Amino acid sequence: MYYGAAYYPEHKTAEELEHDMILLIESGINTVRMGEFAWCRMEPREGEYQFDWLEAAVERLGKAGIRSIICTPTACPPAWLVYKHPEVVYVDNRGLERPFGGRRFYCYNNPVYREYSRKITEEIGRRFGKNPYVCGFQIDNEPAQEASGRCHCPVCQAKFSEWLKDKYKTIEEYNRRSGNIFWGQDYDSFDQIRMPVNTIEVSAEQKMPVYFENPTLRLEYERFCSESQIEYQDIQSDVLHGYTEYPVTTNGTGLATNSIDYYKSTRKLDCYGFDYYPGLRDAAVDSFPYAFARGVKDGAPFWVMEFMSGGGHRFGGSGRVQPNPGALKQAVLQSFAHGAEMMLHFQFRTFPFGAEQLNYAIVDMDGVPRRRYYEMQETARLLKELEPLENAGFANEIAICVDYDTHWALRIKPVNDPDFKYLDYAGKMYHVLEDNGYNSDVISYDADFSKYKFLIVPSAFVASREFQQKLRRFTEEGGILLGTFLTSAKNEDNVGYTDSLPAGLTDVFGAVVEEVEPVFKDNHTNVRLDLDGSEAVSTDGMWSDILGGSARAIGTYTQDYKTDSMVISENTYGKGTAVYMGTDLEKEAMGELFQYLCRRAGISKNPVKAEEKIEVVRRVLNGENYYYVFNFTAKEAEVSVETPVYDYLKKCRYEEKAVLERNGFAVLKEIKG
Ligand code: GAL
Repeated sequence: MYYGAAYYPEHKTAEELEHDMILLIESGINTVRMGEFAWCRMEPREGEYQFDWLEAAVERLGKAGIRSIICTPTACPPAWLVYKHPEVVYVDNRGLERPFGGRRFYCYNNPVYREYSRKITEEIGRRFGKNPYVCGFQIDNEPAQEASGRCHCPVCQAKFSEWLKDKYKTIEEYNRRSGNIFWGQDYDSFDQIRMPVNTIEVSAEQKMPVYFENPTLRLEYERFCSESQIEYQDIQSDVLHGYTEYPVTTNGTGLATNSIDYYKSTRKLDCYGFDYYPGLRDAAVDSFPYAFARGVKDGAPFWVMEFMSGGGHRFGGSGRVQPNPGALKQAVLQSFAHGAEMMLHFQFRTFPFGAEQLNYAIVDMDGVPRRRYYEMQETARLLKELEPLENAGFANEIAICVDYDTHWALRIKPVNDPDFKYLDYAGKMYHVLEDNGYNSDVISYDADFSKYKFLIVPSAFVASREFQQKLRRFTEEGGILLGTFLTSAKNEDNVGYTDSLPAGLTDVFGAVVEEVEPVFKDNHTNVRLDLDGSEAVSTDGMWSDILGGSARAIGTYTQDYKTDSMVISENTYGKGTAVYMGTDLEKEAMGELFQYLCRRAGISKNPVKAEEKIEVVRRVLNGENYYYVFNFTAKEAEVSVETPVYDYLKKCRYEEKAVLERNGFAVLKEIKG
């Protein structure tokens, strides 16, 4: 397990550096990340490379047992480069060039910038690729962050037209598939096509009513930009892989921005890396991003390259609250429980200057170690104790499918704005499962479904014919499939299907969508669930379908003109069962439905009882079950156990319950027989 922090030796005087080095070494951490924004120090003049300062820091730490992650500095090109080649800058959707200063102001498609990036990466690879004190590389910093992932410069424009031509071959085909006849938008040639000005980027400004632009064009542009940035990243990973055997990754923004398809982004990376900044004061740290991270590279361990370090001042907006004592330690352990192999705090010591001056860190500006530092030290000690468990695997039998085309299509044309957010909805299902005693994986549409018994596919708005077939096969072969409202409404061109919905799947679900509407505050309708004897009630939410068809109604409306209409259907298909949930449910009723479906699938609950704010994560090592338990309730909590367990850290046994202090956690090994 790699545990540590980001550090910036280039900011420091020799004296300050020595002070920090001692603190870093005495903290007991084993990893430090460096170099990220320091291009102007690595190559102060074109072709003149200076890495001695970085190498000295790597060595100093390395000799004390701390390994380094070396970053490529390409998020911040030096002034000499930008003034020599002003054409490399990023152009936003208003046509504004992003000036030198700040960060992420380059165009990832620009061939000149790509060449300079390749060269600096090559020098880094040559210098650090075999350094025994290094343990990995990070490419760039948070690709696409701060609205830097949808460039509108002339290079991107020309490349986008070519990209469309490459895909569609003829303009007639493009016009046909994107329905350009609507509002008479047929093009005569690919070079007439302009990039859309509206994008799904977080914090980008929308420049005209979003529906003015063709939804196919918009989805293609999202894909093109995502792909372009992955291509840019691939250049650097290819170079680094030529010099090193250490893992190469980048630090994505996780589920915070999502303007890169992370599933595709790791094709040339050795692991998925991302940054995560959850609140740590009386808050349950959301583990959905970890489950997602695990699914990016088919269950492989992931790296958390930046993680919250505490509260205090902040670089923008208001300050951030401090973590409760113990919350930092708890959160770090939680990430490892969910499959992290690395966790680095952002950052070690507060910056006095620059855009992020006074921002939170482990150690304050004055360099005096205080409680967050000591807690990091304790955490490092604890992780050593848990090392024997680090190869434990996951054995989840439930998966939730998440997809970028669907996510982007729902951002391009929201159906119930702002209430319905696709990823939040997938997250809700994940948590309802968890609170009811079931761990689940989060996987892509391309993943292997065969190892799961129960597959949840929330709102598969964009579903290709192949994906429909995949769901069909999963059910046919004996799986339990749960689809929801908005399933298979559009094809991969982001165009609506003209067959009845859920398109291509009405026989699998035994249901046809007869009528749809969004659910707002004023048109809620009550729903009753009939689950083999047990009943549950809920109000509908987000979206409402009325279903027809031959399936058995396990959910019906009980109000208004919808009374007695089917809203949740259950159908036997092949050896399996397909359930269509035509609306959102309140957590309790959703929990009842999930328990019913898990019983059907033969999936048992964890014997350590989870509930809201008590998280339980099952890991399996040599055939034995370990349950990591986290108390996020902001007070002491009792956790009941249905089987005797052994507390791995406290070295004692519990027959009926374990008591966890505020922000406490436990690792409980199931005692068999
Ligand atoms: C991250 C970024 C870091 C730093 C941090 C501040 O998004 O990668 O470089 O800016 O936020 O919290």
